[in-house]
Amino acid sequence: MIDQATIARIRDAIDIVQVIGDFVPLKRQGSDYVACCPFHQEKTPSFHVSPSRQYFNCFGCHEKGNAISFLMKHQQMTYVEALKWLGNKYGIEVNDVQESYEDIQKKNYRDALLIINEYAGKVFTDNLFNTEEGKAVGLSYFRERGFTDQTIREFGLGYSNRERDSFTKQAVAAGYKKNMLVELGLSVQKQDGPFAGEVTDKFHERVMFPIRNMNGKIVAFGGRILSAEKSPVKYMNSPESEIYQKKRVLYGLYEARNAISQSKNCYLVEGYTDVISMHQAGIENVVASCGTALTEEQVLLLKRFTQKITIIYDGDKAGINAALKGINMFLQKGMNVKVVLIPDNDDPDSFARKHTKQELEDFLESAQEDFIVYQYRTLSANIKDGDPYEEGKMINEIALSVSMIDDAGIRSAYINKAAELLGIGKEDFSEKVTALRQERMSQASQYKSGQRNYVAAREPSAYRRGEDKPQKTKAEEELRKSEQDLIFLLVKYGREVLHNLKNAYVGAEKTYEPSVAEYIRESLKVDGLEISDPVLKKIYDIYFEQVGAADGTPEVERLFVSSLDQEISTEAIEILSPSYQLRSEAIKKSEENRYKNLDSILPRTVYVYKSKVINSRLETLRNQLLSLDSSQEELATKLTMQIQQLSIAKNKLLREAKFAK
Ligand code: CTP
Ligand code: MN
Repeated sequence: MIDQATIARIRDAIDIVQVIGDFVPLKRQGSDYVACCPFHQEKTPSFHVSPSRQYFNCFGCHEKGNAISFLMKHQQMTYVEALKWLGNKYGIEVNDVQESYEDIQKKNYRDALLIINEYAGKVFTDNLFNTEEGKAVGLSYFRERGFTDQTIREFGLGYSNRERDSFTKQAVAAGYKKNMLVELGLSVQKQDGPFAGEVTDKFHERVMFPIRNMNGKIVAFGGRILSAEKSPVKYMNSPESEIYQKKRVLYGLYEARNAISQSKNCYLVEGYTDVISMHQAGIENVVASCGTALTEEQVLLLKRFTQKITIIYDGDKAGINAALKGINMFLQKGMNVKVVLIPDNDDPDSFARKHTKQELEDFLESAQEDFIVYQYRTLSANIKDGDPYEEGKMINEIALSVSMIDDAGIRSAYINKAAELLGIGKEDFSEKVTALRQERMSQASQYKSGQRNYVAAREPSAYRRGEDKPQKTKAEEELRKSEQDLIFLLVKYGREVLHNLKNAYVGAEKTYEPSVAEYIRESLKVDGLEISDPVLKKIYDIYFEQVGAADGTPEVERLFVSSLDQEISTEAIEILSPSYQLRSEAIKKSEENRYKNLDSILPRTVYVYKSKVINSRLETLRNQLLSLDSSQEELATKLTMQIQQLSIAKNKLLREAKFAK
């Protein structure tokens, strides 16, 4: 929660050109700025940023929004993250309102831990590049593995000295507290023995891999031993701490995030060195789950960047199990899952080092299998002589995976494919899948209804529009479109004065020369109408409450497009985009024609709107009438009369509308 005053300060400070300009090279063109669209591939710029209206719009892919939605879409930030980013950019302090003293203490403590890790990372790189021991042991190891200096720097790799307390001593001398070094697992405190209580280094003579969070902050380290004789533990990792929860971190995500968004695919590998070698070979959209089975949190993290995931595993048994485990989790989250098996005895690391970028790309493309083919191939390989029990188990396993797919169309395609592979009837297999889904749903239904509310409360509703709401009928849809038209005219031309109204449907005097806004308000009032769509109603109300004071259209548009209310800004962005079409007519582009145009367009838009109101009410009444049974005759008569009255009103309206033309 960020307080409204702060949000308002941020909103006032935002300059969309500066914000987007941080990510996309913008060129001035007339009053707009243009660039090649960052949301789709193109050679000629169709991405426009309007400084006066404070929104962007792509004429190619129709992506549009304000500065905040740009950050959310382009940088995968949440709403709050975007505000904090902007606060930071414009030097506005952003505090969470409900932060208690303890919360602040905790945050400061976390910040301090991050600072210590940052410091440790520097010490380890410094050891690696600038000390004799580091160069001789660590750096030569990395070079032998084929890592370039640039790669080593990019991933912040380092080296921990042989001496037992070299790091701890240095850190304490630099002013860092021992208990915090211990909390981070950089140092350990001896529990017993002659040196009980003494604090020494956790990592000795290891090459160090910093593990970063999404924001690039070091939350933990992995340290690899250089020779097997020194220790049986190949990798030593930081323990979980206030800043490190294994299940929420993916190794390499920070370095891979842009490549993942751009390629709309993410490769998932097993280890640190797999990520680094593939990255160095030019495949940058790679992450690793760091030796643990993949978690739901990690899947959701990835889903912020891509819908498609390609699991790369080597042929050993552990690898296959891990891959199979991951598959269902990804499917359940609605992701598109492919699998690549690295041939022979290579792992992604060694394989990447043996091939050029082009070869890798070709291989990854051609060796990519759909999850179902992969599952069938690996599972069926273990079945001896068509053992029916084993085959049954395989069928169940594959049916379980397919049942995870929520999209009915995709699921049915997979049912066909799986049945074909398994050599069984589609109907039988489909039945099995359906049964598994039903079973899961009944198990989950109670949990889910709670879950849904939770999701609804968190996600800005603008991104869920139409999903959870009851289906609108056709008449309601049409009414909404008409209301949009009215709001479009209100926000865009509200202050224009209508000098040439042909028909004074509202107010009888010949000299009636209202503004567009006045005309709309009077037209609604005369029939006691209210805008029915809640978001459009909000815009309508805000207009009449606040716009009186504003002058000039861009400011008015900006008020809505940059609204703090996500629903309002999303709606305004849609209505005010250059491609918005009134349901029946085009507003002439030229300035001179505009006023004349409005004199006829506005009354007609109002008529259309009113006829849609009547239609939607008629529909409701008719449906009510249909649902009555014979015992409710009295109510039926009443409804029939109302329908007749409305029909008369509709005819009258149509006659007036004709007269107005
Ligand atoms: N891992 C770990 N602790 C271990 C072994 C493995 O945390 N004792 C994790 C590491 O994240 C490692 C990953 O599991 O990167 C995969 O393990 P492995 O394939 O053994 O390591 P590689 O990354 O291939 O490392 P290397 O090539 O240096 O042996
Ligand atoms: Mn390896």
